[in-house]
Amino acid sequence: MKFFLDSAMTDEIKHALEMWDIDGVTTNPRHVQVSGKPFMTVIMEIADIFAGTDKPISVEVNPHLDDWREMVAEGKKLAALSPNFVIKLPAREAGFKAVYELAAADIKSNLTLVFSAAQALQAMRMGAAYVSPFIGWKESNGEEIIHFIDEVTTIRNNFGFDTEIIVAAARNARQITNAAVSGADIVTAGMPVFQDSFDHPYTDVGLGKFQDFWDDTPYE
Ligand code: E4P
Repeated sequence: MKFFLDSAMTDEIKHALEMWDIDGVTTNPRHVQVSGKPFMTVIMEIADIFAGTDKPISVEVNPHLDDWREMVAEGKKLAALSPNFVIKLPAREAGFKAVYELAAADIKSNLTLVFSAAQALQAMRMGAAYVSPFIGWKESNGEEIIHFIDEVTTIRNNFGFDTEIIVAAARNARQITNAAVSGADIVTAGMPVFQDSFDHPYTDVGLGKFQDFWDDTPYE
């Protein structure tokens, strides 16, 4: 299973690449705003970090666009800037059509803001390279997520679509595990979520005990 970092903070991305061999990055307008840098500046900095790799970087088109032709034009402009860029488009009728046209031009897309299996199915039909079911937002809204992820992966597998499933907005280790058990290809989450998932309080307690035994035992 692949891990993508959900961030536009270049220091976080470099850390995740060096320490965890992160498989890609997803950005969105919130992440770019939090970076404190202009959109073009920050996406090109991220592109530089991944230059020479085949690791994808999702970059989102202007969310105000509602005409598929404008989405395609912006997607083509962004895709020309880096071979790593994957064009992030909203799961709406115009977004699905833009995915179809970009796929015809050999440009990869990631359908974002997916909240139903039917939206994911249409993304797959239209040739999306990636589809991003947003489980964290859904669970915060009181909706169940395990069946949702299962439905999306089952649909993909039933019909042999090439689309990779990015379980998005994961908020904790349990949701990362849910994604992996369901057979999703990728999980994307923020840096603290991954770091928390690598830890467990019993690991710390156990390490402390072993350190005490070690200190009470001669080495030779
Ligand atoms: C995924 O591609 C999105 O960028 C992300 O998961 C959105 O969620 P968040 O910004 O609330 O974490």
